[in-house]
Amino acid sequence: MQQVQALPPQFFQGLKIQSILGEGHDAKVLLALETKGNEKKEYALKCQAQKIQDTAINLFNEIQILIHIKHPHIIELFGYSQDFTCLVLEYCPYGTLVQLIKSSPFPVSIAASLMYQVTLALTYMHEQGFTHGDLKLSNVLIDSQYNIKLCDFGFARWNGKMAIEKQTIAGSEGYTAPEIWTSNPNYIKSDMFSVAVIFFILITGHPPFESNNPDNHDPWWNLIKNNQWDTYWKDIRSNLDQECKNLFVQMFSIQPEERLSANHLNQWFKLKQTTQENLIQEIKKRLTEM
Ligand SMILES: Nc1ncnc2c1ncn2[C@@H]1O[C@H](COP(=O)(O)OP(=O)(O)OP(=O)(O)O)[C@@H](O)[C@H]1O
Ligand SMILES: [Mg+2]
Repeated sequence: MQQVQALPPQFFQGLKIQSILGEGHDAKVLLALETKGNEKKEYALKCQAQKIQDTAINLFNEIQILIHIKHPHIIELFGYSQDFTCLVLEYCPYGTLVQLIKSSPFPVSIAASLMYQVTLALTYMHEQGFTHGDLKLSNVLIDSQYNIKLCDFGFARWNGKMAIEKQTIAGSEGYTAPEIWTSNPNYIKSDMFSVAVIFFILITGHPPFESNNPDNHDPWWNLIKNNQWDTYWKDIRSNLDQECKNLFVQMFSIQPEERLSANHLNQWFKLKQTTQENLIQEIKKRLTEM
């Protein structure tokens, strides 16, 4: 693998900023254009938004992780600034799953095709000892070929450790596994919990619960936690098929070891997915509706 390196200030001075692609917790993401003679290349620049130590730590961590990861369904890091406050990333022109799901939920076969790609990336990561730590709709991008790319590795870990350890709880409320609120999380199976939340939202159009923070006493989470699934399915007025329901019972288990691994879930999605042609057609349709 070619080593990803720090880029000199001249590289950044030569870029023309076109627009703002996103603003998150840690950073501003900008579309930047590099012109070399007749050649033009677009990048997504993820740069520190505010001078706060925690955000600097997240960006440093993201660089340290992405340097070691290369996969067709993971965003590519081309380089970074010498002070580690700016990442030069592959640009994904079609936004995130947040925008795609806005009009209506996906049929199971389309959602399975999207999740098949997500779980391919995760199988690779987990086998190499990496965990993502913040899987959610807004961290799943669509690239120029209509393929899925995972992004935002600010909370990612290698063998359970971040490049610089922090005190704050990682992840995003509504997606994190329940064990995140206690000690000793199983980071691999926590990722699998978040993957199931993403799949749930894709096929129902709404989250399975708002929060599993014990302080919040979320009524839907209480039903899940207490295994009162019959009441849960009635309450959310779900028309999911039995196979999907069984999958969620397993994936939202408070026992991390009961959740399927990325590889096993990938096999599940493989059996349910539609053709690449149908998937691309559906994405294009939704992009024109936006
Ligand atoms: N490579 C990219 N191409 C296109 N858009 C991108 C790219 N990377 C990020 N974005 C956009 O910017 C948003 C924020 O990026 P990212 O999630 O990496 O930042 P963050 O500050 O860690 O976010 P948050 O804390 O909200 O999760 C994404 O949700 C997406 O909309
Ligand atoms: Mg994000």
